[in-house]
Amino acid sequence: MGMLKGVPHAEISLRALARNLASLRARTRAQLLVPVKANAYGHGAPEVARQLERLGVPWFGVATADEALELRGAGISADILIFGPVYEGLEALIAQGVALSVVDARSAEAVVRAAGSVPGARVHLKTDTGMGRLGEPLAATLKTAERLSRARGVTLEGLWTHLAAADEPDSSFTQVQLARFSDTLAALGRAGITVPLKHAANSAALFAHPASHFDLVRPGIAVYGYHASPFIAALAPELTPVMTLSAPVTFVKRVAAGTPISYGGLWRAPRDTTVATVRFGYADGYPRGLSATPHARVRLQGRLCPIVGRVCMDQLMVDVGDLTVTVGERAVLFGPEGPTAEDLAGGVGTISYELLTQLGRRVARSYVDAVDAP
Ligand SMILES: Cc1ncc(COP(=O)(O)O)c(C=O)c1O
Repeated sequence: MGMLKGVPHAEISLRALARNLASLRARTRAQLLVPVKANAYGHGAPEVARQLERLGVPWFGVATADEALELRGAGISADILIFGPVYEGLEALIAQGVALSVVDARSAEAVVRAAGSVPGARVHLKTDTGMGRLGEPLAATLKTAERLSRARGVTLEGLWTHLAAADEPDSSFTQVQLARFSDTLAALGRAGITVPLKHAANSAALFAHPASHFDLVRPGIAVYGYHASPFIAALAPELTPVMTLSAPVTFVKRVAAGTPISYGGLWRAPRDTTVATVRFGYADGYPRGLSATPHARVRLQGRLCPIVGRVCMDQLMVDVGDLTVTVGERAVLFGPEGPTAEDLAGGVGTISYELLTQLGRRVARSYVDAVDAP
């Protein structure tokens, strides 16, 4: 699909996706599980998963049952793990071969009950080593593992945990978490329970903590070309943002010095200049909080131009100076040439993940530069 005229547009470079994947593969011997939750971090889950499956990615991670079924509905046959516990509709997931996370006795019972009618439930038991979100510590995890390994129709296929601070330069908490994870594995081993797939690493841990790789790694943000933190950015400079977000110029005018622009007239032209209106606003995912900050810039004709005045719901205004800009030209809001989603996120006190996943429904997506499977 080519560039869509007249609408905001996220162009996904499948070549950049493949390059990021290759860079991750070069850093680990573990299998890859790529999280494609939240519509593949805003990049479009079915299309991204289809491309990654062609490139040999064996596992995908999702947050919810609906996301797993959406992938199966799109013809994805690779393994899929749902990160969160599921209490309803388990039979359909088991029938589709979707691996389920169990986080405690209650979620274990839901799986055991469903496996009574549809055998073949694949379970990854989540243990809490310090994230404090889902799962339990060693003793309770061991009990649940024993329950699952006795249950009919259930295969305990994985044991996993999530790291809370792998993106920080201070590795001490990650080491505590990995020690707890090893203790849990050892306790299961003493109880005669073996699990083929042990996993803990997100993108940050993949780069910063080789000891966390185990059998499977779960890098999300790195596949999309961004970093979990500045510390990780320094370790993985080769990643390339996969998405270029652009929107059309819909109006251009010449304004005299002193002309107020946008709500509240907070910005007034400091000199005679040209102002372009761009069809992208906070409802499309541009953070309003960036209004009047140095980070609020778009790329037009290869040049960085400041967004002026307040960002509106559907539009924003750009001071293009003496550039000759015409209606229909596209402004890049973020992309690999900069500004990046990471730059903008930094300007508004959030992370690239939030900007990527907050793109609105009016943003069309297209996929370019398909790469052949190796
Ligand atoms: C359980 C789990 N594993 C892995 C990831 C991937 O994390 P990242 O995108 O930082 O690599 C996430 C995302 O938040 C997650 O929830």
